[in-house]
Amino acid sequence: MRRIRPTTLWIICCITIFFIGCEDESSQPINEDIETEVDIFTEREWAVIQRLSPLPATPPPNPTNRVANNPDAAKLGQMFFFDERFSRNGTVACATCHSPFHGFADVEATSLGAGRGTRNAPTLLNVAYNKWQFWDGRADTLWSQALFALEGEKEQAGTRLQYAHLIKEFYQNDYEVVFGPLPNLADTNRFPVTGKPGDVQFDNMSEKDKIAVNTVFANIGKAIEAYERLLVSHNAPFDKYVAGDVNAIGIEAKRGLKIFIGKGVCILCHDSPNFTDNEFHNLGVPQGKLPSDTGRYDGIKQLLDNPFNGGGTYSDSPETPQRILNFLEPTQQHKGQFRTPTLRNVALTAPYFHTGEFPTLESIIAFNNAGGVPSGFVGTREGTLEPLNLSEQGVQDLVEFLRTLTGESPPQHLLRKPKLP
Ligand code: HEC
Ligand code: HEC
Repeated sequence: MRRIRPTTLWIICCITIFFIGCEDESSQPINEDIETEVDIFTEREWAVIQRLSPLPATPPPNPTNRVANNPDAAKLGQMFFFDERFSRNGTVACATCHSPFHGFADVEATSLGAGRGTRNAPTLLNVAYNKWQFWDGRADTLWSQALFALEGEKEQAGTRLQYAHLIKEFYQNDYEVVFGPLPNLADTNRFPVTGKPGDVQFDNMSEKDKIAVNTVFANIGKAIEAYERLLVSHNAPFDKYVAGDVNAIGIEAKRGLKIFIGKGVCILCHDSPNFTDNEFHNLGVPQGKLPSDTGRYDGIKQLLDNPFNGGGTYSDSPETPQRILNFLEPTQQHKGQFRTPTLRNVALTAPYFHTGEFPTLESIIAFNNAGGVPSGFVGTREGTLEPLNLSEQGVQDLVEFLRTLTGESPPQHLLRKPKLP
């Protein structure tokens, strides 16, 4: 065999490499290498992704509310939800701030009810999957959450006595089908037309009558919860993707998902099929012009003080919630913590964060990307927050991923104001 001289070999090599290189350049799109990299998640990554989908078909049971899954209670609750007579001036209902046409959230940064609030209204889609309600978790059930809104000075600002009479006047039959007999409220000396704890009219009532009114009040919340439990939104493009439809989400969203579970460390907190750990964190979100807000710190105090909490006398199953409450105690570490919100349907519910001061998803990711801001918040920021060094493309990819979390709407009849008695 003739020997090839090393220089010839060298030249042949160079020519071959040159042609392979040309071939590469001309036949493949520039993004191809990124695409093959993200299209095939590693087995470990895929295992993490599967923790996020699907959302269970129905929310977890709530034994503290015996009518939680009662369809008649849900119908009644839907009426209460849209009925503006449940307010001091007859002008504010739950739907005022939780608009079915804005993902059951509010277009405004902070909501306007009987007064201007200091926090952003979260979505009610999939709200029954939450372990805690409110940004500060001051309610441990949906039914007790509703009672805060009904009497809250900045929200509906009515009173439990007013509402009990409202039920008597317009809803007695429907109410009694679900909850049994209403107390006889006809004697307005015993049951004044309006009043709540702190008002003389209420405070002067007998203990027995107070309990009767509180029971009606709690039941209003329980009917509303039965309705809210139906506000589920499943089957987002992301869920279809995890279920095997590889084209359900685009390439940007796939890259975004990779960042979400990897470099972005979003998964650290938004980790469950409802994209939340159901815990509280201090991200150092600046309060801006809003008053200082201790978040979870005050939330725990209010939760423990509330006679309507899951462990209280109006609960239909107080034992388990009480055991959980026994472990709670506000400490320094809780200051400035807010609950990790769901990210399902997040594209529908701008503006964002508890302050409502972040107008777009891009602005949230920019905040995360910078590792937060150095001042203007309460308490101590969590140590895990550091700059992410995402490129502009990476930021956009994350946003695209978040957009794939918009699920199917609940049935249309649940989005409308029903005929009121
Ligand atoms: C004036 C506006 C307004 C009205 C009226 C209102 N809400 Fe809200 N809602 C808010 C705001 C703002 C928050 C967040 C407040 C907070 O975390 O302190 C909130 C929080 C909630 C939450 C907690 C959600 C979560 O993810 O933490 C639920 C559930 C809820 N509202 C249901 C209702 C129901 C039911 C009614 C009627 C009984 C109602 N809201 C009336 C503005 C309103
Ligand atoms: C340390 C826990 C933690 C990490 C990590 C984290 N989040 Fe969050 N996220 C939260 C908490 C807590 C809030 C609410 C903060 C507040 O309002 O004060 C929040 C709020 C949000 C919101 C606003 C939702 C709304 O309805 O207002 C979006 C969007 C969001 N996070 C996306 C992300 C993305 C994307 C990442 C990764 C880049 C990420 N988060 C990383 C805990 C976390």
